[in-house]
Amino acid sequence: MARIGVIGAGYVGLTTAACFARLGHTVVCADVDEAKVSALSRASVGAHEPRLAELVAEGLGTGRLRFVLGNRAALADVDFVFVCVPTPTGPDGAADLTFVDAVLDEARGTVGPDCVIVIKSTVPAGTTERVAAVIDRPVVSNPEFLREGHAVDDFLRPQRVVVGAPGPRGAAGREAAVRVAELYAGTGAPAIVTDSASAELVKYASNCFLAMKLSYVNSLAELCERVGADVSDVTEGMSLDDRIGGAFLSPGPGWGGSCFPKDTRALLSTAESLDVDFPLLRATIDTNHAQAHRVVGLVRDAVGPLRGARLALLGLTFKAGTDDLRDSPALATATLLAAEGAVLTGYDPCVSADCGPVRVLPSAEEAARDADALVILTEWPEFADLDWEDMASTMTGRSVVDTRNLLPPAKVTEAGFHLVPLGRPTP
Ligand code: UDX
Ligand code: UDX
Repeated sequence: MARIGVIGAGYVGLTTAACFARLGHTVVCADVDEAKVSALSRASVGAHEPRLAELVAEGLGTGRLRFVLGNRAALADVDFVFVCVPTPTGPDGAADLTFVDAVLDEARGTVGPDCVIVIKSTVPAGTTERVAAVIDRPVVSNPEFLREGHAVDDFLRPQRVVVGAPGPRGAAGREAAVRVAELYAGTGAPAIVTDSASAELVKYASNCFLAMKLSYVNSLAELCERVGADVSDVTEGMSLDDRIGGAFLSPGPGWGGSCFPKDTRALLSTAESLDVDFPLLRATIDTNHAQAHRVVGLVRDAVGPLRGARLALLGLTFKAGTDDLRDSPALATATLLAAEGAVLTGYDPCVSADCGPVRVLPSAEEAARDADALVILTEWPEFADLDWEDMASTMTGRSVVDTRNLLPPAKVTEAGFHLVPLGRPTP
């Protein structure tokens, strides 16, 4: 079993640390946030991530996991250092590598001679190769594919492990890359060991492809509305073709979160900087920007001019099963609705503080009180179980715009509502 240092206790770093401890390795996880380190050391996990708190408590209990303050504290006496710090979008759309570069600077001269530095943060193709040239230690790329809300499961039962070493076909650090792949032996996942640029690109190529699928289906939903087709039947028909598959074909208010928006922009920026025209990717991003405007149009069609309209928004996080509001399409839609003068209340099972223009209330019923219309923006299953007779008695208006096609149409319409789904005929 290995000694592993993890830098950054965000949702990726913390999941990595807790799961490696679970797999039997000894892990020291560092973060620069003192409050976070102290909370984690008491097994208090802030993130809404199933099983993560349990694994952190287990790791602390067995002594295989501990938390330390400051990046440097996880660099000494370890066989592997996993860099899991943020790579946010820079001013020009490219990934900002300031945090990664700073950690690597600290690692130089601190890590032992046999230590392998593993870049798990999402970085543009070529980064590992560039870094490896100035660090006298093996450096490899090992991208993560963790979905929020499923991170522990995705780590312990991944569909693939990808590791890349610098040089043609990863020749320069192949042995180190194989050692990193072996850390995941307990997961039973197939491993791809390749060159670092390819490994880095697997991450961007996957997320951008998924985003492209979603923009495609969101446009398809609009077309379905025009021709009177039902997008659910269309995507079901598509999904029975093995070459297409059924995943990531649900239309919605747009795709968001901490990865898709930044990764699509970063890959486009990489392509542009290398003079590669990538119109599909540009259209994927533009279609997504237009989607929030389209949802506003549906609300306007349902309630009339938005100035002074009281709207209840159900769901504020970027998807169900997480408390994450980063780049949430629900909030993008809220901002546009507020810009047209709508007055917004909201409810989300994982959000308690007001969000931008949305006054957040403790229940769906309270958010809906006196509202002219209700807009479903995140697919929390509990919204499907609302008592629609009860909702009708508290609301002023009778319009429900369901951007996730989540609600049971019969129950909603029987309670007297006019239901506007996405990509389906109005019931
Ligand atoms: C991050 C990156 O954004 C993503 O590109 C990559 O794929 C994985 O790592 P995430 O885990 O969501 O994703 O980041 P976040 O939840 O913001 O947490 C980052 C943590 O790193 C924070 O707790 C922050 O305090 C910490 N950090 C940051 C350090 O410990 N050291 C630093 O130098 C910078
Ligand atoms: C994503 C990747 O899936 C994961 O592998 C990792 O690289 C991190 O980024 P995550 O950000 O947790 O994970 O979100 P994901 O579940 O992929 O959803 C992204 C967005 O697409 C959300 O806004 C979601 O609501 C939307 N979505 C997803 C749809 O609108 N319809 C779908 O059918 C699926």
